[in-house]
Amino acid sequence: MKTALITGASRGLGLALARELAAQGWGLIIDARGEEALHAAKQQLASAARIVTIGGDVSRPEHRQQLAQAAADLGGLDAVINNASVLGPSPQPNLLDYPLDELEAVYKTNVIAPLAILQAVKARLHPDARIINISSDAGIEPYAGWGGYGSSKAALEQMSAILAAENPQWRVFWVDPGDMRTEMHQAAFPGEDISDRPLPEVSVPGLVALLSDDYPSGRYRARTVLEPKPEAPPVNGLNLVLQVQDFEDAADFFGKHLNLPIQKEWHDTGHGALFSAGQATIEIADAAQIAEVDRVEVGHAVNDSIRLALGVRDVHQASTDVQAGGAEALHAVVDTDWGHRNQRLSLPDNLPVKALTLFQVIEPNGKDQS
Ligand SMILES: NC(=O)c1ccc[n+]([C@@H]2O[C@H](COP(=O)([O-])OP(=O)(O)OC[C@H]3O[C@@H](n4cnc5c(N)ncnc54)[C@H](OP(=O)(O)O)[C@@H]3O)[C@@H](O)[C@H]2O)c1
Repeated sequence: MKTALITGASRGLGLALARELAAQGWGLIIDARGEEALHAAKQQLASAARIVTIGGDVSRPEHRQQLAQAAADLGGLDAVINNASVLGPSPQPNLLDYPLDELEAVYKTNVIAPLAILQAVKARLHPDARIINISSDAGIEPYAGWGGYGSSKAALEQMSAILAAENPQWRVFWVDPGDMRTEMHQAAFPGEDISDRPLPEVSVPGLVALLSDDYPSGRYRARTVLEPKPEAPPVNGLNLVLQVQDFEDAADFFGKHLNLPIQKEWHDTGHGALFSAGQATIEIADAAQIAEVDRVEVGHAVNDSIRLALGVRDVHQASTDVQAGGAEALHAVVDTDWGHRNQRLSLPDNLPVKALTLFQVIEPNGKDQS
């Protein structure tokens, strides 16, 4: 049985998450200030392995001790979701008119309490426990009129980031759930029809994924956690390799006359230099340098004066693909001592350039060379 402490779970996002975790068989400790709504919530969570409800205010130390005791009684915690939060006065005053006692109350609930809860339960957190601090886009966007709540969420975010750095044994997530049709949202937009905002259930699958799967600590938007990551393009770089007779002349041409900045230079066997050319690079190399790269990639000298070198995501896949298009491998794939996985091929006869190196960077800080 996994056990989670969710603060502020009598309604809104906290209750929606509690419902899903209960359905998945988690044990739950939940709280809220309003005892009646908390009791009603408990009725909806009958499928939980265990359910403990404790009425109280997260900003009060005695209440936090009760939560910690419940965590101990249930054998420790796999997750803490700091969800309970207050908006502050509504309509929200601008910062210069913000009553400071109200600001203090917002900070006590939204910033101090989440940390105080973690301090109270830290001895009960299992290794690899997940901590989710519910934040908001108002924590990173400077919306006028959102200075109290927004700055409290900004503080919560930075606190979460530091907690993550200080506690690599846990995963710490700070999560923007997105706009949701809840009591808090209605309070933020008094009198406005908020029926177009999605229900909090829409933000739950992303939170469950963070609690259950292998995500690194960090900031997330609940609704994009499960979106597939865009794949890196199969080809990500072009380097044109030119064999030159007079290295210094060529280096002057590209470096001094064209003003291309030098990315790397090497002088071991021969001379080589890699010039940045906007989104591509031009590499010049003397005959000795070309021969050395030929030796590594092909096993003997080939001596092409122009060679295309394409950075690829997966050299084996790219090689299969270009061979299907008529290219021929001159040698097996090799791991070079400059941190690349390379294969030299000859291009089909109908192309004006004959030589192709496919390279996959396997050690980003290796000695750079195509
Ligand atoms: N709704 C949105 O559009 C939106 C957008 C971005 C971020 N968020 C964040 O999402 C989280 C959930 O918001 P929500 O919209 O679901 O809010 P909600 O509907 O107002 O629910 C808040 C829950 O927290 C409880 N709570 C509030 N203050 C508490 C305290 N001091 N001690 C214990 N429990 C407390 C409330 O019960 P009691 O009042 O009875 O205590 C209630 O159960 C919050 O962190 C909020 O900042 C919401």
